[in-house]
Amino acid sequence: MFESLQPLAADPILGVIAQFNNDPRNNKIDLGVGVYRDEQGNTPILAAVKRAEEMLFAESTTKAYVGPLGNIQFNQLLAGLLLGDAHPSTSSLSLVQTPGGCGALRVAAEFIKRSNPSATIWVSDPTWGNHVPLLGDAGINLRSYPYYDFATHTLKFDEMMSALEEVKPGDLVLLHACCHNPSGTDLSVEQWQAVVDLAQKRGFVPFIDIAYQGFGQDLDSDAYGVRLVCEQLPEAIVAISCSKNFGLYRERVGAVAVLSQAPAVASSHIASIVRGIYSMPPDHGAAIVARILADEDLRNTWVNELTAMRSRIRDMRVSLVGELQKHSLAQRFSHIERQQGMFSFLGLTPEQVAKLADEHAVYMVESSRINLAGLTPTNIPVFADALSRTL
Ligand code: LMR
Repeated sequence: MFESLQPLAADPILGVIAQFNNDPRNNKIDLGVGVYRDEQGNTPILAAVKRAEEMLFAESTTKAYVGPLGNIQFNQLLAGLLLGDAHPSTSSLSLVQTPGGCGALRVAAEFIKRSNPSATIWVSDPTWGNHVPLLGDAGINLRSYPYYDFATHTLKFDEMMSALEEVKPGDLVLLHACCHNPSGTDLSVEQWQAVVDLAQKRGFVPFIDIAYQGFGQDLDSDAYGVRLVCEQLPEAIVAISCSKNFGLYRERVGAVAVLSQAPAVASSHIASIVRGIYSMPPDHGAAIVARILADEDLRNTWVNELTAMRSRIRDMRVSLVGELQKHSLAQRFSHIERQQGMFSFLGLTPEQVAKLADEHAVYMVESSRINLAGLTPTNIPVFADALSRTL
């Protein structure tokens, strides 16, 4: 039976990891998968995480099941981080721990199917490469709305709003809360309000992916859109990832949050969906996050570490454009300084991306999305030189 299966190409993002690892050159540069790296090119375990782990190791007394809703303390604390303390909608939110942001997206897709089997989810063009398989494989109809203008490297807001005028009541519009992946281009405060007004008028439900809270401006500003939606609309879905802001990538920790008039009903459906897919989430990552958020000292340490990660990426954006000035390319790539989060597009062809890998050992996703956290003060001149030779 299995001989009917044909081999598949590697995942467009994860495949870059293997390409990079297989390259024996020691001056290679990895701008592929979205993980934070420090100035030495390492993805460190945060000090707050290490200390929380030590405490958990000393204090843990059981490995009994956590249950489909996960760690209840984590759920409450993460709701506070998402909405801020004392948000008027906190009691209407059912927030449930999931295995990473991907788990959250997939549980959300199943929840949408149960609520409205004929719903369409509208995704930005472009969007994160894994949104389409994660949501589409759940059997949901997907459509896209215009978002990023590759010619000007800006948001196509008017076109986006015209497309969203066509969205039917009960459909969902997937929005990135901050640090849009892959474009680094976000909605302004005024644009969020316009989207919320349109959702009210058309009756569509915002479905917000927040995977980079703290990587854009700060923890509160990056959640602005989520908080606005939850304040002004009756229903919304949020997929949360703790991979990046807590550096817990391999622990798979995130959450799905549903805003509704009947949060207990929503929780009961999420619990039954979870039971039917993976039964319950793993414990460790959520226990770490809960420990950090509950302890003032650890929380302060974590916020400082998050601030340092954000500042380093911002510095790399500025330094790269400065270095490209030496090659008379600063104008062409000036958008990199205006954008935020881990990613920006270079606007290269797939052939140019392949040439950068073959001739200069510089790796990125084929769309020419780069992870700015892969740059360091040492490799920026090398990268800028390689880029200028490739254009
Ligand atoms: C990325 O976009 O590179 C990250 O979110 C990692 C992933 O799973 O794709």
